[in-house]
Amino acid sequence: MTPDTTPRRTVLMAGAGSVAALATGCGSDGDSDGDTTASPTAPDTDTAEPPTSAEEPSESPSAPAADALTQKSGVPVGGGTIFKEEKVVVTQPTADDFKAFSAICTHQGCIVAKVENGTIDCACHGSKFRITDGSVVNGPATRPLPAEEITVSGDSISLA
Ligand code: FES
Repeated sequence: MTPDTTPRRTVLMAGAGSVAALATGCGSDGDSDGDTTASPTAPDTDTAEPPTSAEEPSESPSAPAADALTQKSGVPVGGGTIFKEEKVVVTQPTADDFKAFSAICTHQGCIVAKVENGTIDCACHGSKFRITDGSVVNGPATRPLPAEEITVSGDSISLA
């Protein structure tokens, strides 16, 4: 029984790559052993992830640049830039006039694909929205892209 526990811990330490080995270890011997070991296993795996992400926010306050979405120069005049991770599109219809909208198409929820010729375009079904106010230029979408709050500070643009 004792030698059975040691290999499982070893497998856990090895990480997700050993899923086959873990499955074999659970299925090979006694169910009662498996239950006892399996219960702590799941929480251990869950607990292992949060510390990693908990460390990241503590670094963010000391690095203000990480908070910024982009710099002014990252948004072309008369165009815009899509930030897929943040699901935001920032536009600059005229010099030094920045706007931001949700990048989630109001038709069926695709992330918009490009900003071109004064419109924010969704590639899924062809909807187009004005870079000035997010209003619909071309359907099938019928509702505008909702505006997002941004803060322009010096050369940095960040979500408010
Ligand atoms: Fe954008 Fe359909 S989801 S046009």
